[in-house]
Amino acid sequence: MYQDHQASFTVGSHSSVAPLHAIAPLRVGLLGLGTVGAGTYTVLQRNAEVIAARTGRRIEIAMVAVRNLARAARIVGPDVALVDDPFLVVNHPDIDVVVEVIGGTTLARDLVLQAIANRKHVVTANKALLAVHGTEIFAAAQAQGVVVAYEGAVAVSIPIIKALREGLTANRIEWIAGIINGTTNYILSEMRAKGVSFAEALADAQALGYAEADPAFDVQGVDAAHKLTLLAANAFGVPVQFDKVYVEGITELDSVDIAFAERLGYRVKLLGIAKRNAQGLELRVHPTLVAADHLLAQVHGSMNAVMVKSDAAGVTMYYGAGAGSEQTASAVIADLVDLCRSYGTHPRQRVPSLAFQPGAIAALPVAAMDDVETSYYLRLDVAKLSRTLPTVLAHLAEAGVRVQQLEVLEHPDDAELKALVVLTQPTQQRRLRVALAALEQLPTVMGFAKTLRMEDLR
Ligand code: HSE
Repeated sequence: MYQDHQASFTVGSHSSVAPLHAIAPLRVGLLGLGTVGAGTYTVLQRNAEVIAARTGRRIEIAMVAVRNLARAARIVGPDVALVDDPFLVVNHPDIDVVVEVIGGTTLARDLVLQAIANRKHVVTANKALLAVHGTEIFAAAQAQGVVVAYEGAVAVSIPIIKALREGLTANRIEWIAGIINGTTNYILSEMRAKGVSFAEALADAQALGYAEADPAFDVQGVDAAHKLTLLAANAFGVPVQFDKVYVEGITELDSVDIAFAERLGYRVKLLGIAKRNAQGLELRVHPTLVAADHLLAQVHGSMNAVMVKSDAAGVTMYYGAGAGSEQTASAVIADLVDLCRSYGTHPRQRVPSLAFQPGAIAALPVAAMDDVETSYYLRLDVAKLSRTLPTVLAHLAEAGVRVQQLEVLEHPDDAELKALVVLTQPTQQRRLRVALAALEQLPTVMGFAKTLRMEDLR
């Protein structure tokens, strides 16, 4: 049976509002004092007064686990207990909430499960942890009657989890499309606007603190897929299922195609898309052409944006910083404030972790990419254009791929070749695959075709 072991601190149990000093602070144990941990400490200190005025209770970082104690002492000062063994924090009886910002999925998983076993609430910004181990972690939290909150895990500064779980709770959601990785959006923006190389833009993003410890997660689309996993669970009432997401990053993206897309009136964005279709659900992350006048095309640098199409509210859009120290801290602290406000409530009366009551979460079939229908941008590098073009069109028609627009452009690297760019009508990937297999065999088509998906999102 559930018991709230902190209920003695609950404001709601008093008939009038207790003065702030009469209520014990929420005692936080912080795991990690890197970019996000240090930001959380700084913002909690700087805005202590306004946060307490909103919360009715002080939030106190009581204990911090770090590898480098001397560095940490310079950040947090003498009032905070510093330890180098994070298990001392999750096992400490005086800690109410564990904030996990060490990242990774191994030690972080053990620590979070141990905190839950000790009936402590958990706040985390660790999208990889929840995307991969979420089912186990949320089940453990439910069994123990504690909260696992994770607003900082998805599009950091944007309260998108709150929007999906609360603001849009009346809606049946049709699709979500988001720029949910700041590093790749920064790289794509710099490459387009300044013509810098992929490597230069990535180095800048790392220096600015946007990238993951392993930037491969960013540029290969994995980080966006982690976040999409959590968005889809909240939108559609499905389990967290990272392994079902189709993931394609920006490492294979050719700057020629970014420039050609621009000439045709499009921008290339790395989108995370979760969409209900007749068969079930599409879960995909890939570079995508969106019209240059679409709102998502106006999202530059490390900014993120999430667009949600729902049946009653229609299209709504959420915009904000997608990475950064205090930007993530803002979300972590919002979760701590929510926790303060929900103390003393029975778990069934809380906002469910994944927006749906645990018993209502059900798997929908996730569509195979071959069955997914989108429009495509297709570039073929072609010699002897006038002879080749009719054959190209014949192969596309034979595979059932209908042409929406066709352009012949000068090839930037080879004056002997033309770049034949085709924008298709919506078509199943399997049809395009058949067409490409035939086209790449043609002796006057050089190398592999370049393909990018396009989305309308109106
Ligand atoms: N590496 C992530 C990004 C940080 O670039 O979006 C925030 O999750």
